[in-house]
Amino acid sequence: MRNPYAPGAGQRPPELAGRDRELQQFEVVLERVARGRPERSMVVTGLRGVGKTVLLNTFKSMAMQRLWGTGKIEARPEQSIRRPVAAALHMAIRELAPRHRAPDRIEEFLGVLKAFAMRDPSAAKGTSHWSPGIDVPASRGRADSGDLEIDLTELFVDAAAVATDLGVGIALFIDEMQDVQAADISALCAACHELSQTGGPLIVVGAGLPHLPSVLSASKSYSERLFRYARIDKLDRQAADLALIIPAREEGVEFTQEALDALYDAADGYPYFVQAYGKVAWDLAPRSPITVDDVKVSAPEAEEELAVGFFGSRYERATPAERDYMHAMATLGDEPVATADVADALGRKPSSLSPARDSLIKKGLIYSAERGLIAFTVPHFGRFLRAQPI
Ligand SMILES: Nc1ncnc2c1ncn2[C@@H]1O[C@H](COP(=O)(O)OP(=O)(O)OP(=O)(O)O)[C@@H](O)[C@H]1O
Ligand SMILES: [Mg+2]
Repeated sequence: MRNPYAPGAGQRPPELAGRDRELQQFEVVLERVARGRPERSMVVTGLRGVGKTVLLNTFKSMAMQRLWGTGKIEARPEQSIRRPVAAALHMAIRELAPRHRAPDRIEEFLGVLKAFAMRDPSAAKGTSHWSPGIDVPASRGRADSGDLEIDLTELFVDAAAVATDLGVGIALFIDEMQDVQAADISALCAACHELSQTGGPLIVVGAGLPHLPSVLSASKSYSERLFRYARIDKLDRQAADLALIIPAREEGVEFTQEALDALYDAADGYPYFVQAYGKVAWDLAPRSPITVDDVKVSAPEAEEELAVGFFGSRYERATPAERDYMHAMATLGDEPVATADVADALGRKPSSLSPARDSLIKKGLIYSAERGLIAFTVPHFGRFLRAQPI
């Protein structure tokens, strides 16, 4: 019952280990933006399960502690960001409204926000009965042109002005940012660019897969000047140990040194795996300290759970042709592989494999590490596939 470990997408870990540098960087961003100083916002990137969502949520809490308005969206490949952004900014403004001295300023902004939201393509087609849930009349002539770049810019400027009245800022968090549609990414960058020039205290903070920086720079060449990329990776030995030890100690439980060695061997420092192996070892250990034998006995069960929940759920999203493609990748090793070599391994022409490769990228299972090279977004996925019957 007291098991502290938390394997699961977006599950807050009992100890956020090894991320001090990123947390400090974000403190600086918040401080500088609130003072109207020029500062790049942050974009967190990394493989599946390294803790991007959890870090983004922690950033959000940090902003809230400074009394900023905050909102968060999770991008989806087939969806315009207009509506989710409107909902997120609505949340952010609701956080600020009770402290604002001039209710009519808030109402005015909400009118603009509503007009912005109602420009959503599906609302315009009349195919949706969705309403933004804002009880003020939509205003006219601002953030409602239908051109997302113009509308976002106007909306951001107005939202930032409301925050400025209170001496705080607004932070909009975008998870799975690589899935934002190309046109929307470009509008978003342009709006951030505009805002960075006027010094308005609104930032967009993103998280996504390792190729997100190239998605952004393909969209706008100046994206490098808008965002500081923080690539997060597996935890080093010390951080991985702390992720296990600190929560256990709070419950009066210890690990032997050999148990920690075995856990590091198994989890390889990947946060999701650290939580998964830690959780099962805790459950199967009869008493404290947790020993290497406890870890060995529990490992198969942890692997089984990962095979279903972490690897299997993703594998199932792939079509048979896509699975063949990934199996071929897996036979070539665990480093990024050349697409030409995958074609060779399958005895096919590279061009005939582009559809499978592109849809695997869209599904977020593989990414293009650099030109002509691809890699799994899921750590240890090659190992998992090699153990699967084809
Ligand atoms: N710094 C950390 N220390 C310990 N555990 C962590 C840390 N960061 C994340 N975790 C754990 O790792 C798991 C995965 O975290 P999270 O869902 O944030 O990863 P992610 O990078 O967003 O993955 P995905 O790409 O699949 O969305 C969670 O169980 C979480 O508790
Ligand atoms: Mg995530």
